[in-house]
Amino acid sequence: MKKSNNTQYNIKDVGKTVELYGWIQKKRNLGGLIFIDLRDRSGIIQLVVRPESSIYNQATSLKNEAVIKATGEILERERKNDNLETGEIEVLLKEIEIINQSIDLPFEISTETTALEETRLKYRYLDIRRDPIKNRLITRHKTITAIRNYLNDLDFIEVETPILCKSTPEGARDYLVPSRVNKNKFYALPQSPQLFKQLLMIGGMEKYYQVARCFRDEDLRADRQPEFTQVDMEMSFVDEEDVMTITENLMKKVFKDVKNIDIKTPFIRMKYDDAMMKYGSDKPDMRFGMELNNVSDIFTNTNFEVFKNTLNSNGLILAMKTEEKAEKISRKKMDEYTDFVKRYKAHGLAFIKMIDNEITGGISKLLTEKEKESLIKELNISNNDIVFFVSDIKKVAQTSLGSLRLKVAQDFDLIEKDTYRFLWVTDFPVFEWSDEEERYMACHHPFTAPKDSDIDKLLTDKANCYAKAYDVVLNGYEVGGGSIRIHQADVQKKMFESLGLKEEEAQEKFGFFIEAFKYGAPSHGGLAIGLERLIMILTDTTNIRDVIAFPKTASASCLMSDAPNYVDKKQLEELNVMLKNDN
Ligand code: AMO
Repeated sequence: MKKSNNTQYNIKDVGKTVELYGWIQKKRNLGGLIFIDLRDRSGIIQLVVRPESSIYNQATSLKNEAVIKATGEILERERKNDNLETGEIEVLLKEIEIINQSIDLPFEISTETTALEETRLKYRYLDIRRDPIKNRLITRHKTITAIRNYLNDLDFIEVETPILCKSTPEGARDYLVPSRVNKNKFYALPQSPQLFKQLLMIGGMEKYYQVARCFRDEDLRADRQPEFTQVDMEMSFVDEEDVMTITENLMKKVFKDVKNIDIKTPFIRMKYDDAMMKYGSDKPDMRFGMELNNVSDIFTNTNFEVFKNTLNSNGLILAMKTEEKAEKISRKKMDEYTDFVKRYKAHGLAFIKMIDNEITGGISKLLTEKEKESLIKELNISNNDIVFFVSDIKKVAQTSLGSLRLKVAQDFDLIEKDTYRFLWVTDFPVFEWSDEEERYMACHHPFTAPKDSDIDKLLTDKANCYAKAYDVVLNGYEVGGGSIRIHQADVQKKMFESLGLKEEEAQEKFGFFIEAFKYGAPSHGGLAIGLERLIMILTDTTNIRDVIAFPKTASASCLMSDAPNYVDKKQLEELNVMLKNDN
């Protein structure tokens, strides 16, 4: 067995004979001397072979990424390398055992690479040899260890829950698995262990956690994968404050153990409605300013048709001031930003600039002096500032200008670096309107407790019901979310009713769950952290695939193993499954 990391040796070990295992990262021939960079998981150590050595020819034959066992003596280097942990020493080789040669590589194993991501994913095992991926997997391991240690110390119990389940209502499409034994029936892979963790509370476990795999068949984005991992928690006899405090301290522990950074707690808190109004997002990135302003009041008597029509149809006029960029934003850039907000259903993007103490450009000619003055005062506009406006229905105005806020910040590099801005977004609405379904749907899931004061409004005033739900947001990512749950049968019944779920339907879908609440359900609540998103931030990447050993592409496939794939007719027959287009 390999006894030690190759990088554990240093100047104090000079004279020792050591046995090393690893891969040939690089080989150089300098004036007859062969230098080899030997790599193992811990890093690089330099080997040297002299021309007179009996293993000289063997060393010459080694190709990059060959695997060897090397025995030799540690010497002090003549020319030290400060960039390497083992830079003061080298190993004079006496014996080499070639464990395996390597054929030519599809890309070089180096920190920087120009290889396409597709190639890296096809040969993911080679990609994992590169520091950027390897180190992220190590950080992932350290993060999970810190989390386990923290929760174990608090007396949480780790319990595994099924992967072959009945569908769980988290709002995405299910991955389905046909049952061979129970013909024509399907399991659903869990979108999260939500129902099981609540049942564990009814089962008296009191404090549960799980590093849980979750599966969601949804449109993929840079921070979404079809299978991902949650640190899932649930606790009995808690309120919102308890869950938030535990989560904050958990984050504190992770940042300390993994990055040796002290993060400040408690995190700031912002109600959902305020986050949407000020940042146009339920996961505001707090690393920069550029807040949105509702300037509808300034335009109550406006003659500008677009604004007038918006206000007449109960919409909003939102403004966002970007400081000192008026001269930098060209007509072309403005067109690009207009197209950008249109992607979020906005009808258009208006702007004004302040140049030489005058409001000019864009819609400035369509505004009265009084309106301009009010804008200058309310938004505190200075020279070379530009103000963007979206006037539209509330949701569109908020999400489009909120997205532009992020884009402008990225374009002009306004986002503070190496900083971690946490916040809680609280008081989510219980319901959200679905244009597609033309009905109110659960914003979180139907087991989230409404605020006590809103229980009576569940059936009569859906637009104004708020939930005991909270998301933890970090640098513009939703890294976790949870809620206090309903534990009273009558409230649950009312909730189903308000979602338009008939009693038989609720019974068919969640009968086992509803039944369990009849046998003494404790009050309970919890939260789940998206492990990959947390590690993305900890390891400074915006690509979720970088923090997963074997990730899927945007079309949910694995380029290495070619999953998903066709299966044998026989397998389908056994499962009683017939394909529509059998080709
Ligand atoms: P939610 O659906 O908010 O809540 O998920 C919790 C967290 O999981 C992460 N996440 C994802 N990460 C990567 N890829 C995905 N496709 C993906 N979807 C979600 C996010 C998110 O905040 N059962 C509830 C939790 C609870 O109420 O306790 C749940 O699953 O970081």
